[in-house]
Amino acid sequence: MALTGFMKAVVLTGHGGFDKLVVHDDFPVPKPNSDEVLIEVGACGINNTDINTRIGWYSKSVSSGTTTAGGADGIDDISEVDATWGGNVVVFPRIQGADVAGRIVAVGHGVSRKRVGERVIVDPWIRDRSDPENRNLAGYFGSERDGGFAQYTTVPEENAFVIKSNLSDAELATFPCSYSTAEHMLDRIGLQEREKILIPGASGGVGSALIQLAKRRKAKVLAITSKSKMDMMLDLGADHAFDRNQKGLEQNIREIIPGGEVNAVADIVGGTSFSMYLNLLCRGGRYVTSGAIAGPIVEFDLRTLYLKDLEMHGATVMQVGIFKKLVTYIENGEIRPLLAKKFPISQIKKAQEAFLNKKHIGNFIILP
Ligand SMILES: NC(=O)c1ccc[n+]([C@@H]2O[C@H](COP(=O)([O-])OP(=O)(O)OC[C@H]3O[C@@H](n4cnc5c(N)ncnc54)[C@H](OP(=O)(O)O)[C@@H]3O)[C@@H](O)[C@H]2O)c1
Repeated sequence: MALTGFMKAVVLTGHGGFDKLVVHDDFPVPKPNSDEVLIEVGACGINNTDINTRIGWYSKSVSSGTTTAGGADGIDDISEVDATWGGNVVVFPRIQGADVAGRIVAVGHGVSRKRVGERVIVDPWIRDRSDPENRNLAGYFGSERDGGFAQYTTVPEENAFVIKSNLSDAELATFPCSYSTAEHMLDRIGLQEREKILIPGASGGVGSALIQLAKRRKAKVLAITSKSKMDMMLDLGADHAFDRNQKGLEQNIREIIPGGEVNAVADIVGGTSFSMYLNLLCRGGRYVTSGAIAGPIVEFDLRTLYLKDLEMHGATVMQVGIFKKLVTYIENGEIRPLLAKKFPISQIKKAQEAFLNKKHIGNFIILP
């Protein structure tokens, strides 16, 4: 394949609404640097981080959750200086998309030519080669460098993991961001066999991954979700499912579990239910968060934290090694994809609109 050709790509031109996403047919195919590979993208998943980065939701000036309207139209008056997950300014134009499955079609001078033809999925955490465990030096694929909403993309060769699986590229592209985040969350709290874990936002990308990965550890899973999705959460392996809008939710959860308390909460929702999550933890219980889709500013009674000897963890930049574990779980069939819908790259806005409506279970995929 010619390295000097052109490709389809979705280019983000700045912070804002859908109008900042421009679909090109003639964007230059990137050239791999010496230590990089060029991947023909088979499929790329959609994540909230694509939307949060586009609308500048990470900025401290934003206090609401990620909403359907905010995701479509952008947020007025965001501060550009802290508008990304890591606090660095985004360089535009930028190709987003963190979840790539595809094939290596070319390599840089420093990479073995034997890698051409490999089927790979991409670890989205781009590390500093000289200090890979340094979390301050990590960047995200599709944020600090161009990602996968395109026909081709480049990554450092160590980010392209060979995958042996009967799953389609679209199915494989559901895994990288959500499942690695979920496994990182469970590692942070050291979830053990038979422990009870509460998972709000259970039907989403991270939530559905948390259910499967917590069951993989033989924990007891309590899923909080929308009423219409409860049965599906039980099919996925949750031991109990609760309607997030039901009256007396906290009491209903207490009544169902022996002792009335859980050992852990893995939260990506936050918002007004946050204090309930802490109330439900047992003494010495662990809370971990990697998102706040319902709102980042919460009511927090410090007494709950100290009087119950709770632990609280944030989870974003994970240690090296989690992605490799994930590849093994996929290859062994220990986790399964939840592919909600596929969209052609030309329909990126329609895809993000549907993603923001949250009627789905699992992940949406863009096909280039
Ligand atoms: N730190 C990281 O590295 C990292 C990585 C991945 C994701 N994240 C963050 O984690 C969050 C979730 O990501 P995701 O990919 O799982 O999202 P998702 O697929 O959109 O799922 C989020 C789920 O949360 C629930 N939800 C949405 N709005 C809610 C509200 N107002 N109140 C209560 N529940 C609500 C819905 O599930 P139900 O219908 O089941 O209630 C929804 O499906 C996002 O904020 C994302 O940015 C962070």
